[in-house]
Amino acid sequence: MDQNEAKRLAARAALDYLPAQGVVGLGTGSTSRLFIEEVGALVRAGRALLGVPTSAASRAQAEALGVPLASDDGPWSIDVCVDGADEVDERLNLIKGGGGALTREKIVNHAARKNIIIVDGSKLSQRLGERWAVPIEVVRFGHASTAAALRAFGEPTLRCHDGKPFVTDAGGLIYDLRCGPIDDPSALDQALRGVPGVVETGLFLGRASVVLVAGADGVARLSRG
Ligand code: 5RP
Repeated sequence: MDQNEAKRLAARAALDYLPAQGVVGLGTGSTSRLFIEEVGALVRAGRALLGVPTSAASRAQAEALGVPLASDDGPWSIDVCVDGADEVDERLNLIKGGGGALTREKIVNHAARKNIIIVDGSKLSQRLGERWAVPIEVVRFGHASTAAALRAFGEPTLRCHDGKPFVTDAGGLIYDLRCGPIDDPSALDQALRGVPGVVETGLFLGRASVVLVAGADGVARLSRG
């Protein structure tokens, strides 16, 4: 099974967690794209779902598929949010933000009563940071000074696209902070939030209700506790 097939399998498994009718957070990234395709098919078949997109890209995709969407302003009462992740540890803590949507994703995640994370097996690790850097969204003003402060925690690299700084939907920049395996993700998250200029971190701690991990043997359903 290739990675894309595994992502599709995880995306389909997430449909089991959707309400008969209600509000669904729509994640960002290649796995979430597959999930949004499935939501589009459900809506066309008559299911009454309202989407809350976590990025302009997810909004555009869902809109094109005819999925009714809530305004970006909120407030929302979200039954379930389905999103991907870059890394998942044994406690189901996550690193997210590979697609640059971490701030919106975290806002929608916190507004959802249940969060379903869809990944293929390559995303699992024992400790966060083994595989991925931690994306950190920062305000543009003084970002190089913010980056200098981030050096106390690891090696920050400004994310660029086509040779220019990548600008998020929220208008911020992203530094990918390589810090190696993280002993205490909660302490790191708190410390990073204390740096002026930091808007949000890609550490999603205790925020996954269920992680659906797809691989050749099917879909494993992992839940906390
Ligand atoms: C976007 C994200 C994505 O969920 C994460 O990067 C996983 O992406 P993919 O499904 O393409 O592997 O956090 O900001």
